[in-house]
Amino acid sequence: MIVVKNIAEIREKVKAFRKNNFVIGLIPTMGALHVGHESLIKRAKEECDAVIVSIFVNPAQFCPGEDFNKYPRQFKADKEICSRLGVSLIFAPTAEEMRSAGALTEVVPPSEFQDKLCGSSRKGHFNGVATVVLKFFNIIIPDKAYFGQKDAQQLAIIKKMIQDLDLNVEITGCPTVRETDGLACSSRNKYLDEESREKAVSINRAIERTRELYNAGEDSALSVIKEAKKILHLDLEIEYFKAVDMETFEYTEKIRKNTLIAVAVRLDGLRLIDNLII
Ligand code: PAJ
Repeated sequence: MIVVKNIAEIREKVKAFRKNNFVIGLIPTMGALHVGHESLIKRAKEECDAVIVSIFVNPAQFCPGEDFNKYPRQFKADKEICSRLGVSLIFAPTAEEMRSAGALTEVVPPSEFQDKLCGSSRKGHFNGVATVVLKFFNIIIPDKAYFGQKDAQQLAIIKKMIQDLDLNVEITGCPTVRETDGLACSSRNKYLDEESREKAVSINRAIERTRELYNAGEDSALSVIKEAKKILHLDLEIEYFKAVDMETFEYTEKIRKNTLIAVAVRLDGLRLIDNLII
């Protein structure tokens, strides 16, 4: 497995893959890899001849006061995981290489997509995400790219960008991988101590409750969400707990098949998100 840090070099490597007619798959990440990331890599390995993992803690997607400096960085462990899974190449550029400071051209996803849910409290976050993902697509020009359903709004925004900017990359959304207690895997989970972790488990229980209520015949979003919120541990500060259309992210009054139930909470200074599709 090769580790490449600069753009010129990765372009050369990709050129060689292309000469061999390889199908190239990209998994963009910010590192601190866990089994959620691993599931994306495994999926790419099944479908592609060359699998590239990018590792870049993207400053542009952190809002002021967020945990950019504290974000876990564990390159050695990440390298071992990628190597074990048969990744062809890790692209790990520096912030300078990615030109992520100063006055820069940005991708701005439509406000209909980014003003809701996570976007409403993380102003500019999705500009930062869309811009860096487009940069990776332009640098690598992958045939396929893999994203997690855990970040449902991010996945929808990337799909929208692909469509609107006519990019020739096939996007695959992969199911959320969870710990055995149901907590969605996240690089930030390692900040949770035992007590907080127990509280955090109630997030998954609460969204699962919405499915149970719907299956039992209740389809009013207001009642379902009100009931499900009761499952959340009282120490969790709810940022949002909403039922939305899976594609447009419009709030919905009636829950139906394909409604997205999305939740974000704060716990001990940490922000955790999760969702499920009815
Ligand atoms: P990061 O949080 O490292 O996540 C990288 C990819 O892994 C994303 O597509 C995310 O949805 C997916 N992922 C995270 N947790 C998962 C889980 N429990 N199950 C399945 N997939 C999971 O998302 C980002 O990085 C960045 O915003 C990025 C797209 C790399 C742009 O900087």
